[in-house]
Amino acid sequence: GALKSSIFKKAEEAATEEDVRPRVLILFGTQTGTAERFSKQLKSELAVRYGDGNRYEVLDMEEYKPENLHKEKVVFFMMATYGDGEPTDNAADFYNWLTKTASEADKGIGSAGLLETLSYGVFGLGNKQYEHFCAVGKRVHKALGVLGAKALVRRGDGDDDEDIEADFESWRTELYAGLDKCEVLVKSSDGGSGVTQIVAAAESVPSYQINILTGSEAANAEDVSSAPPVSGDGTSKDSPFLSTVSVMRELHTPQSDRSCVHVELDVSGSNITYEAGDHIAILPENGEDVISRAADVLGYPLDTVIQLAIPEGSQSSLAPPFTSKAITLRAALARYVDLLSPVSKPALQALSAFAAGEEQARLRRLLSPDGAAEYKAWHQQSRSLLEVMEEFTSCRPPLGAFFGSIMQRLQVRFYSISSSPAMHPKSIHITCAVVYMKTATGRMHEGIASYYLKQQKPGALVPVFIRHSSFKLPKELTTPIVMVGPGTGLAPFRGFLQERAELVKSGKKLGPAYLFFGCRNREQDYIYQQELERYEQSGAVDRLFVAFSREGKQKDYVQHHIAREASLVAPLLREGPESQGIFYICGDAKNMAKDVARTAVKIMADAEGISTAEAEARLKRLGDTSRIQRDVW
Ligand code: 2AM
Repeated sequence: GALKSSIFKKAEEAATEEDVRPRVLILFGTQTGTAERFSKQLKSELAVRYGDGNRYEVLDMEEYKPENLHKEKVVFFMMATYGDGEPTDNAADFYNWLTKTASEADKGIGSAGLLETLSYGVFGLGNKQYEHFCAVGKRVHKALGVLGAKALVRRGDGDDDEDIEADFESWRTELYAGLDKCEVLVKSSDGGSGVTQIVAAAESVPSYQINILTGSEAANAEDVSSAPPVSGDGTSKDSPFLSTVSVMRELHTPQSDRSCVHVELDVSGSNITYEAGDHIAILPENGEDVISRAADVLGYPLDTVIQLAIPEGSQSSLAPPFTSKAITLRAALARYVDLLSPVSKPALQALSAFAAGEEQARLRRLLSPDGAAEYKAWHQQSRSLLEVMEEFTSCRPPLGAFFGSIMQRLQVRFYSISSSPAMHPKSIHITCAVVYMKTATGRMHEGIASYYLKQQKPGALVPVFIRHSSFKLPKELTTPIVMVGPGTGLAPFRGFLQERAELVKSGKKLGPAYLFFGCRNREQDYIYQQELERYEQSGAVDRLFVAFSREGKQKDYVQHHIAREASLVAPLLREGPESQGIFYICGDAKNMAKDVARTAVKIMADAEGISTAEAEARLKRLGDTSRIQRDVW
């Protein structure tokens, strides 16, 4: 077809004219690493199917200049959606550029046809439990089309709530079928015939070469077993700052069967600056119990000193799990391996190669097309990698395969900062709900980062970095604000109130502020009660409304209080010059934020006699102009 001649040479020519075949770029926007993993998988499959492995390049969106996009010929986008339908951090700049350029083109300002010579495919990653399912993938797909780029395949929407691996697989199958037909990528003669199938043999599982150091080599290896990573400036994940825990305190009373901790991290000695509303990332570590169980299933003592041997000029698409410095197995397992999150399908596939007998048959069946229903049920029980390796006792992969193909990297975890630098310039507060729940298999699932945080004692070193956000107090001090934050959704508002308390102290005139907080029970989880009441007395907050959901017979939620206070809230949601209030929502995205938004719509419709549809349209405009701001997860 047209694409074939304009973009790619035929196979025969290609063999002699490698250099004229343009590169194929795979860009990813990732938060938890899945989009990155998918990108690498796509790259290696494309290389197998269409040959010429060097032309495929996987890049973190953060590393890519969007202004160069019109020079590319083929780009695949692996786009995760985060929180409230937002791009992931690493994709934010790219996403903003693309959507802005497309909307200008739409309005006839420049750039229409900018990407005319680009062919593309978009696979979105998301979760159907959220309102804005795969919103980022959808918007990127659309924006590329607006700018004249040609889609090579229908948009893929991966649903992490069900089976995102299967969604990705069917998207790839469709992509390859399309590519084979239009020959946009010249098929290599020995190319595979479909999506890469389950690895059959242990030898074919991509592995690292891992050397085990003994004797003096091990003894002379730099001891990295207990020291956290080197301290950086705290501006990115590659440069975390080692903060010092100064306060660790339980916020729930002993009557509560849950836990929520208040943590203060001292960042003096760093150049870290932050504002109330920003986020802080924690680089967690696995606990001793978890890593010693992992060492057991791997069959090596925790003190084993290992070293990654990455051959010079290696073409491996695997990102090294750690550097090639010698490291103890303990440190490698503690810092780099996600042992507790639900195990991924590719990890299972790789694991199955090392299983034996009946166990291997069971895993293979689970991974085969016939086992799809069984896999789905199994997957929904959220088995962790550690759990699976403990259950399938014949699965004993060598370290190289474990670190190369089976493990997934431990991810950083973000928290909304719950302090203000106006009150605490050198310390950052976190309000962290400790996650634990029984999974369907009876395992106690502990949130990796929250458990890690809770274990830290004053004096402990915690690697952190700051992520700036746009969730901010108004520039004009007199702008009225409504803050809605049940549970740990209170966190950024505690920072806002600290800021306002300092402003009040210095004699500034502030606009009114209303806080809607919700918890289960006054006696159990009314976190920061005394502080909040003090702020109400001092005028840092004008009215404090607290919903207790489990005190009476009926659920009492923040939105019920908001509905009752419609006369207070409605004027803030008005459009036009007479009101410029800001409405903030923080906390749960799956239910709470949606319900609160619905309540806001009802309040607007009632107060102004407009239809629900009109009120919804206004809600959207208010969001677009940052009059409604969300920090939800
Ligand atoms: P529940 O657990 O009793 O249902 C903080 O987590 C508070 O938010 C709890 O009191 C919780 O109540 C409440 N909550 C749960 N679902 C909610 C929703 N859809 N809207 C508002 N609050 C909710």
